[in-house]
Amino acid sequence: MKLNKSSFLAPTLSLAFLGLGFAGHTQTFLKKHPGINPYHYEVVKEASFAHGAVSSAHPLASMVGAAILKEGGNAFDAAIATQFSLAVVFPGAGNIGGGGFMLSRKANGDLMGIDYREAAPSKANRDMYLDDKGNPITKMSLDGASASGIPGSVAGMIATHAYAKLALSDLIEPAIEFAEFGYVITEKEANGLNSQKANFLKNSSAPSAFTKQQWKAGDTLYQPELAATLKRIQKNGLAGFYEGETADFIVKEMQHSGGIISKEDLKNYHPKFRKPIEFDYKGHHIISFSPPSSGGILIAQMLQMIAPYNVGSMGINTEASVGLMVEAQRRAYADRAEHMGDPDFWKVPTKTLISEGYAKERMKDYVPGVAGSSKITQAGQVHESEQTTHFSVIDAEGNMVAITTTLNDTYGNKTIVAGAGFLLNNEMDDFSVKPGSPNMYGAIGGEANSIQPGKRMLSSMTPTLVTLNGKPYISIGTPGGTTIPNQVFEGLVNIIDHKMSLKAAIDAPKFHHQWIPDMIGVESDFPDATIEALKAKGYNVTKRGRFGRMDGVQIMPDGKRTAAGDKRGDDSVAGY
Ligand code: GLY
Repeated sequence: MKLNKSSFLAPTLSLAFLGLGFAGHTQTFLKKHPGINPYHYEVVKEASFAHGAVSSAHPLASMVGAAILKEGGNAFDAAIATQFSLAVVFPGAGNIGGGGFMLSRKANGDLMGIDYREAAPSKANRDMYLDDKGNPITKMSLDGASASGIPGSVAGMIATHAYAKLALSDLIEPAIEFAEFGYVITEKEANGLNSQKANFLKNSSAPSAFTKQQWKAGDTLYQPELAATLKRIQKNGLAGFYEGETADFIVKEMQHSGGIISKEDLKNYHPKFRKPIEFDYKGHHIISFSPPSSGGILIAQMLQMIAPYNVGSMGINTEASVGLMVEAQRRAYADRAEHMGDPDFWKVPTKTLISEGYAKERMKDYVPGVAGSSKITQAGQVHESEQTTHFSVIDAEGNMVAITTTLNDTYGNKTIVAGAGFLLNNEMDDFSVKPGSPNMYGAIGGEANSIQPGKRMLSSMTPTLVTLNGKPYISIGTPGGTTIPNQVFEGLVNIIDHKMSLKAAIDAPKFHHQWIPDMIGVESDFPDATIEALKAKGYNVTKRGRFGRMDGVQIMPDGKRTAAGDKRGDDSVAGY
């Protein structure tokens, strides 16, 4: 096993370390896996493993996934255990109160997409976030229970379990133990929790584990209410979340801040199977998620638009390659705003949008070296916090899973369900609240993505798989709101055209154009010479902090699984 360890967390003494839980729960998972120490763990940024590997936003979640693989679970088992663990150890985006997309390719070539995106409650309506003058009340679709769609993550994981090998209760157990016996938080988590303390207290009906104290790196976070909720799911499956005590807690929390999710909404929630998007790019077969995510269509459009060009010879992040790719981004994102939404409510012309002929047609007016124009000058404000989380798993058999899951904003709507201990999403903001008005990400939408009861809001999440010569090759994805499809696009170009390693492709500075606003956002470490050259061509270029946290696993020619975690976060890999 080759390790590239980039940071280390000091051990801490805690009550839980002495074996004292809150509700007499006996540790089974952690006892069986003494190598997974929630009070002393390392961030591992890149490593190669002989059998199976996991890359996720948190070291403990990746270690759990790897332990499950080693114990005989397949990639689906590992993914379920990783998602539940992230809900505890990465509360800003890991979740049971949000939703996501599970994309898989089994070793026998079977593809599957499970859409567990949140849905609009039955009482939702098209104009629910508009004031009496017809203007958007942004706060309502972002803060508090009024911003929440019906959560899908628990149902999504239970649907995924049909393809797993181990008992569901064993896959939830590690999360319960992290919640009940606590885990040491990183500096990033401490800062995140402290920065949202006032919002948590304002938006939630009661104080929570997150608001107990001012946090610092090395403190132990216990989440007894979340542990109890996870135990109800462990015992009763779907009913442990969508009915009974947990449903009661959710519906009660709704009353505090104008939420409209009812008990019927929870009971009626179902994940949906979606046919993945598939296309070829320079000898590679790419598989990604279909609507209600825009991600798969966008990367199919953008990669096919640039396919006729020798991007490798242009060099990474040069004026030539960025100019070409930005013009592809502009065209694809314009189509997103017009054509994409929940396919059960809106006819998305997927077949046309992802066809090679359409890509050619869209690039007909592209002139190399000349800045295009989105023709609409009003710019939406781009929000810097783009929290979602992605993780990838490849097992020993060659089953590949890519999951991107989210609460939307960092810590969702900042509302912790009293008694149940988990954060709710503010995914309703991903709908087009008013045609032509930008959402949190500055994204514009129209009728295709308007609010209707039961409809799923358009997403940018892009869990993606790649095969090479018919064999499993890469599982990859990232958080980052509307930057997600562009990051995956650029990550794949880095690997396929620029022949970079997975880790280098992930860490390379990224850029983003989403049609409106008509500007290129670049990461702070983007080459200055390219910025100046693009400006000279007439592009509006703005430096932004950082985009996303991309994680992936790649099968190397010798069969080893090389896993890479983004330099931008606490992302960490594990395997065996
Ligand atoms: N909430 C981010 C997305 O689904 O695109």
